[in-house]
Amino acid sequence: MATYIVLLGPPGVGKGTQAKILSETKKLAHISSGDLFRENLKNQTELGKTAKSFMDKGELVPDDVTIAMIKDRLSRPDCATGAILDGFPRTPAQADALEAMLKEFKGSVSAVPFISAAENILIERASGRWTCKAQGHIYHEKFSPPKQAGVCDFDGSEIYQRDDDKVETVAKRIRVYLEQTMPLVDHYRKAGKLIEIDGSQSVEQVTKALFDALVQQT
Ligand code: AP5
Ligand code: MG
Repeated sequence: MATYIVLLGPPGVGKGTQAKILSETKKLAHISSGDLFRENLKNQTELGKTAKSFMDKGELVPDDVTIAMIKDRLSRPDCATGAILDGFPRTPAQADALEAMLKEFKGSVSAVPFISAAENILIERASGRWTCKAQGHIYHEKFSPPKQAGVCDFDGSEIYQRDDDKVETVAKRIRVYLEQTMPLVDHYRKAGKLIEIDGSQSVEQVTKALFDALVQQT
């Protein structure tokens, strides 16, 4: 049976950082809705232009657009054995759509690690983040800087700061998360799939907590 792991948590908590590690170790595709929107934006697609107007304001892209994009991504061959979902679902309607999609693929959500941390930590992490242009490798100017300033350690591409990582936009994204995404915590807790992880620890400690918990659930 395929393994679908949903990473839930507020902006900046470390979902992308952990998703990369998990996908490499577990040999599962990493699907980040935010990365897919940013890729569309880079390629100047209609989807990218639509998404940008919402992302710049720190708001969620409408459900129908987001669900269609993820359905298309999940139906590709590299997801046949499962995937790590990072940033999707983010609303109850997206969670229902995910269940329906996975049913079509004869699967279901296996586990939902919920990584959380206090707001001051989220703002410090997001506002110090640098991302690689080529493949989205993630750095932090204080906690995990690249070996050479401005250059990705893995592929040598330029690293940049996301437009939506300005302090006021991060604060808005946190509010949107509390209003629209927090209901999913209860939803997955009731389904017996939620795994609570303390995201305020170091990257290595969070990874260890995640792996220890997933061994028991998947
Ligand atoms: P998205 O790109 O998904 O952003 P997000 O959920 O707000 O989360 P982030 O990517 O900001 O944080 P992260 O948890 O991945 O943290 P990271 O690992 O990078 O979404 C962006 C926008 O797209 C949304 O606002 C919305 O408009 C739209 N969108 C996306 N999905 C959508 C959906 N499903 N529906 C509708 N709209 C959607 O880490 C952050 C920093 O902290 C890095 O610098 C990292 O190096 C550092 N760090 C990580 N872990 C640690 C640690 N343990 N200790 C110290 N530093 C750490
Ligand atoms: Mg991310």
